[in-house]
Amino acid sequence: MRKMEKPHCQTDEFTIFIDGCDFGDTQSHKFVFLQNIFLTMDHTRTSWNSKLGFILAASGSAIGLGNIVFFSSNAYQHGGGAFYLPYFLALFVLGIPIMMLEFGLGATTRKSFPLALRQVAGRRAEFVGWWAIGCAAFITMYYLAILGWAFGMMLGAFGSLFESGQTAPFTPFSEPSPEPSAMVFFFRQLATWNPLIFTLIIWGLNLLILKNGTSSIEKAVKIFVPLMWLCMIGLIVRGLSLEGGFQGALYLFTPDVRGITDPGVWRGAFSQMFFSLSLGLGALTTYASYLPKKSDLVNNAMLVSFLNCSFEYLAGLAVFSLLFVFALNPAGSTLSLSFFVIPQGINGLSELPWIVRLTGFGFFALLVMAGLTSSLSLIENPASALIDKLGISRNKALTLIAIPGIPGSILFVLPFIIDPDLNGNGTLGLTLLDITDHWVFSYSLLTIGLITALIIGWWTGAEQMRQALNQYASIKLGRWFNPFIKFVIPAILISVILSSLAGELHYENGAWTYYGSTYKLGSYWWLLAAVPTIWIGSTLTFAWVLTYKSGRV
Ligand code: TRP
Repeated sequence: MRKMEKPHCQTDEFTIFIDGCDFGDTQSHKFVFLQNIFLTMDHTRTSWNSKLGFILAASGSAIGLGNIVFFSSNAYQHGGGAFYLPYFLALFVLGIPIMMLEFGLGATTRKSFPLALRQVAGRRAEFVGWWAIGCAAFITMYYLAILGWAFGMMLGAFGSLFESGQTAPFTPFSEPSPEPSAMVFFFRQLATWNPLIFTLIIWGLNLLILKNGTSSIEKAVKIFVPLMWLCMIGLIVRGLSLEGGFQGALYLFTPDVRGITDPGVWRGAFSQMFFSLSLGLGALTTYASYLPKKSDLVNNAMLVSFLNCSFEYLAGLAVFSLLFVFALNPAGSTLSLSFFVIPQGINGLSELPWIVRLTGFGFFALLVMAGLTSSLSLIENPASALIDKLGISRNKALTLIAIPGIPGSILFVLPFIIDPDLNGNGTLGLTLLDITDHWVFSYSLLTIGLITALIIGWWTGAEQMRQALNQYASIKLGRWFNPFIKFVIPAILISVILSSLAGELHYENGAWTYYGSTYKLGSYWWLLAAVPTIWIGSTLTFAWVLTYKSGRV
């Protein structure tokens, strides 16, 4: 619990954040004073026990499935070295500055995302905050489903995952495979109810840890974050020490400047950076709202970003070295690289089955731990927002989240096979996941990031944010920060969003194609229209209800 501080009438950082008012406004000073009293009396809000606790929690949020599963498949898709330069640039021009904005918003208002936005820019901004929470709910649902699959693979490492002769129950894999095949194991598992149980376990773990707020999040990340670094280092040492492993490292790290002209590479790099750093949905604003008052936000943002990106490059090293050692071909979907190809590589690691099993277990345990510490932030974000807005208890907020959240996750792990010839081998869950990810991941994070930058840059003032960030910072942000937030970041984000939109419908080889044409959906074609409609419709309604129709504010 944060200690009660004496109310004080210094109009320090709060002055600058009340609806964009300026320093000389006496009316607003009074308001600020009241606001300060209100804030200091809000003793229901807990805070991190130490800086280390916050850094572990925030880096635990950032380091997740995105760093291992999505980064490696993105980097592979965009040609390794061609991806790495735009990605590196994205860290500095987009990642770190936006993380600073999110930290600044949370730490100065001590509120979760929607109410923090409301405090600085009024109700319409709060609406954007709730829209972000709604979009985050979709991501949370499928993120936990993928974690459920990873959990199943982790258990499978002890069982039959690395044994030969697996068969799948439906046509594409009906032939007994001569080699142990993780792909067969994965699809076989997908066609059972097991992932549903695993997803429930992951939800249960999350709720259990979040029940006590920051103190138990801190305890969990103190165990899981160091452990996942350890697993990662073990995997790299193994991958690089095998003959040919170094080639993989070279493939990933040799810059390929030709890729720079491909807009797809830039799009991939910028959206991946957003997801990887947990930006755009307000999760880090919520974590920063639990920071003690005198925190160095500039330093924290740099530290978390560097930790995240170092982990990502290490994961890339591990994945690409295994890929090259065993000359594997990671064709197929995003998940295939981590879920099928790497296990296949791990299988070739040794003649000794126990080494194979242990390494396989280590790899999937790493995925589960990294994903779990990220999902904590995904669920804490709406929990904190509901507590702030409705004044309800933590348990009630978590229940309100679990009621739609758990059935939502279950939809993505449904073993129902529509038709084995379709995408995702015909399981409804995987197909739904693919389409949802396409819309929510590609558009919501960047759009909300863009609006946040515009609100702070043009509405409340970049200079005021700069001063708030600099207040306790050892390395101060220069004046370059202001035009950066006002012009550079919005320009980049607008071009990425527009170019993604243009890609939905494009002219190719004499015909118009739209993104959905790559899907084989048979009589389920309507899913293509239903998913984006449900996403937009439900999140906007949710945002409207929470902004205008409820709350104690
Ligand atoms: N950053 C996490 C990953 O790389 C995912 C994540 C957690 C996230 N919280 C988030 C993404 C909030 C966007 C917003 O796996």
